[in-house]
Amino acid sequence: MSTILLTGGAGYIASHTAVVLQQAGFRVIALDNLVNSSEESLRRVAQITGQAVEFIKADIRDADALREVFNRFAIDAVVHFAGLKAVGESTQLPLKYYDYNVAGTVTLCQVMAECNVKQIVFSSSATVYGAAAEVPIHERAPRSATNPYGQSKLMIELILEDLVAADPSWRVAVLRYFNPVGAHESGLIGEDPNGIPNNLMPFISQVAVGKREQLQVFGSDYPTQDGTGVRDYIHVMDLANGHLQALRYLQKHHGIEAFNLGTGQGYSVLDMVKAFSETNDIAVPYQIVDRRPGDVAVCYADATKARQLLDWQTQYSLVDMVRDAWRWQRQNPEGYRQID
Ligand code: NAD
Ligand code: UD1
Repeated sequence: MSTILLTGGAGYIASHTAVVLQQAGFRVIALDNLVNSSEESLRRVAQITGQAVEFIKADIRDADALREVFNRFAIDAVVHFAGLKAVGESTQLPLKYYDYNVAGTVTLCQVMAECNVKQIVFSSSATVYGAAAEVPIHERAPRSATNPYGQSKLMIELILEDLVAADPSWRVAVLRYFNPVGAHESGLIGEDPNGIPNNLMPFISQVAVGKREQLQVFGSDYPTQDGTGVRDYIHVMDLANGHLQALRYLQKHHGIEAFNLGTGQGYSVLDMVKAFSETNDIAVPYQIVDRRPGDVAVCYADATKARQLLDWQTQYSLVDMVRDAWRWQRQNPEGYRQID
């Protein structure tokens, strides 16, 4: 049985990936400093799969703590989710983002090399395409970034490319996620943002549950069918399956490959509001406001490469995404925090 280390293992995408990996027969070790998550997510994973997840509270920037983990467990591969992801905060605290994301990844790779573990799946983002000139976006599209968060993802991609060029025995899969949404169908695990959500889907869910008065729709004058921004929303369980397929791919391939993980289908902000309210039979009041600085009009993936090389295909529909997001929100109005 292969043993997989998930850095950032208690987070949103990692917890769903832990379910998929355990159900596929992998042993999962989760490492997290809990800066943006709770250990409760992993207890819930165990509830879903019937298998405990080994948890280590540690920081990826702490080389000694990482060494201890690699010495204690015979780790075959790392899925590297750990990092900070708030775009706005990254413009205020760029050094913190470069420290956690870039320096953290360098430390992780150094310890991996030392311990002769050279298989890694990295959580990148469609943000590395900047304002793409063409949609659907292909993996070969030029990369650029417009904020420190995006820069950190781009820098890490370049670092991993250099690492493989210097030592071709590494096996690296770079997964560029489009817009992850939804939750496991049990409603036991899901996205649990701190404070006011930055992203559309958790914001819609919090309006629906009555925590926020209304959604602000950022701009209705984009060159799209209804004037609102278009994105490639992907169910988090489809994304989780993409990690399983990437690990299987790495068992057979050396070198580095980047893959878009999206559905290839774009939906507007108003499409999302409509799908959420109609599927769940609940009102989502909204107001159109100015565009959010830095947003692009349209972004969706060409996911052909992942389909062909990873033998991966999305299975969840828009209705599944909004239904599962709402089930999680309704069952856990305070996320993982205990309500006494
Ligand atoms: P998340 O915040 O839920 O998960 C990240 C986890 O990493 C958290 O549990 C956090 O506590 C942990 N962490 C942060 N810094 C750490 C450190 N120094 N040491 C150890 N643990 C640390 O976010 P997520 O949405 O699950 O995202 C996972 C990864 O995917 C991130 O790298 C993110 O940038 C990337 N990504 C996310 C999205 C998205 O929309 N959610 C899109 C593209 C890429
Ligand atoms: C954002 C980040 C991106 C990151 C991605 C996933 C920015 C500029 N980009 O992308 O780097 O990789 O999240 O975490 O922050 N919207 C509203 N009202 C809201 C929230 C969003 O109308 O309250 C709109 C946005 O204008 C956009 C769409 O909904 O058109 C999706 O927004 P969001 O969920 O924040 O994702 P991205 O902007 O695609």
